[in-house]
Amino acid sequence: MATHKLLMLPGDGIGPEVMGQVEQIVSWFGKQGLGSFEIEKGLVGGTAYDAHGKAISDSDMKLAQDADAVLFGAVGGPKWADVPYQHRPEAGLLRLRKDLGLFANLRPAICYPALASASSLKPEVVEGLDILIVRELTGGVYFGEPKEIVTLEDGQKRGVDTQLYTTGEIERITRVAFELARTRRNKLSSAEKHNVMKTGVLWKQTVTALHAKEYADVELEHVLADNCAMQLVRWPKQYDVIVCDNLFGDILSDVAAMLTGSLGMLPSASLGAEDPATGKRKALYEPVHGSAPDIAGKGLANPIAMIGSFAMALRYSFGAGDAADRLEGAIADVLGSGTRTKDIAAPGANAVSTSEMGQAIVKALEARG
Ligand code: IPM
Ligand code: MG
Repeated sequence: MATHKLLMLPGDGIGPEVMGQVEQIVSWFGKQGLGSFEIEKGLVGGTAYDAHGKAISDSDMKLAQDADAVLFGAVGGPKWADVPYQHRPEAGLLRLRKDLGLFANLRPAICYPALASASSLKPEVVEGLDILIVRELTGGVYFGEPKEIVTLEDGQKRGVDTQLYTTGEIERITRVAFELARTRRNKLSSAEKHNVMKTGVLWKQTVTALHAKEYADVELEHVLADNCAMQLVRWPKQYDVIVCDNLFGDILSDVAAMLTGSLGMLPSASLGAEDPATGKRKALYEPVHGSAPDIAGKGLANPIAMIGSFAMALRYSFGAGDAADRLEGAIADVLGSGTRTKDIAAPGANAVSTSEMGQAIVKALEARG
């Protein structure tokens, strides 16, 4: 039986609460004979800073390097508003992404039928929605140098961030997106701003060339990133897979998340390149939502995005697509039965707690036999 090494990094705010629900689900799958899960735990974000003055320690980074998959909760909160910039909670997440080479971030936005009315858009706009945002995650303005605030001769300050992309970086993320489009509705939309940015010009050229050379069977369209944001709230079902850079992907995926009813619903997978020797890839799975410090510790958080992230780990790291389908099906069953955490409940309706939602999903898994 395969042994899967899982590193859990719950992080800050609601991170530990939602991660707690995943633990029961992991042990449930372990008992089903899916393999044995070896769980390690580490610190990231503000809690790591409190413990050892860094947003992630070198020893926890080592655990992440050695794990088959990292499950990540959330980081950040007002408590750490004044820590030095290089030690802010988010730095832990960015180091994980960069050092593990997790260049491909998959953010599926699926609107469960039972939740169409929880979206802020009309039900007919979001019902049956199934789109996938493929976000470049280790380049662009998040990491480009120089990145600094300098003082000018006249005493003013100037902040600089640098957006840069090479053809190699654009090609490898686009390849992932084309391959995924082939397994879905065979359509790729590439979002950039070639009308104002040189990186946008290069992005469009590179995607166009790769399409002609290797993926002419996939339908390709180019869309300006601002227009894409507008189209996502106008008629999101026109999309299948959207590929974009790091910053546009950050923004567009928050828009897409809200289409599904709540930020608490969206999982994500961040994948590295396949190791040709082992066929394995480094991977980190995290909910798209943040640490939500305002509701932390109250049992109000929706654990579905975190649990859905584990479903993605089953699919992409453990080769257990059937188990992933089963877990996603169990989530759909629970939503279909009307069970809701507060974020997706109708105003004034009864809502369950974080752990009640977790237990309901375990029960639904069992009921699926
Ligand atoms: C995300 C988050 C992160 C990002 C933050 C926490 C650094 O918003 O994963 O979308 O900007 O990438
Ligand atoms: Mg974001």
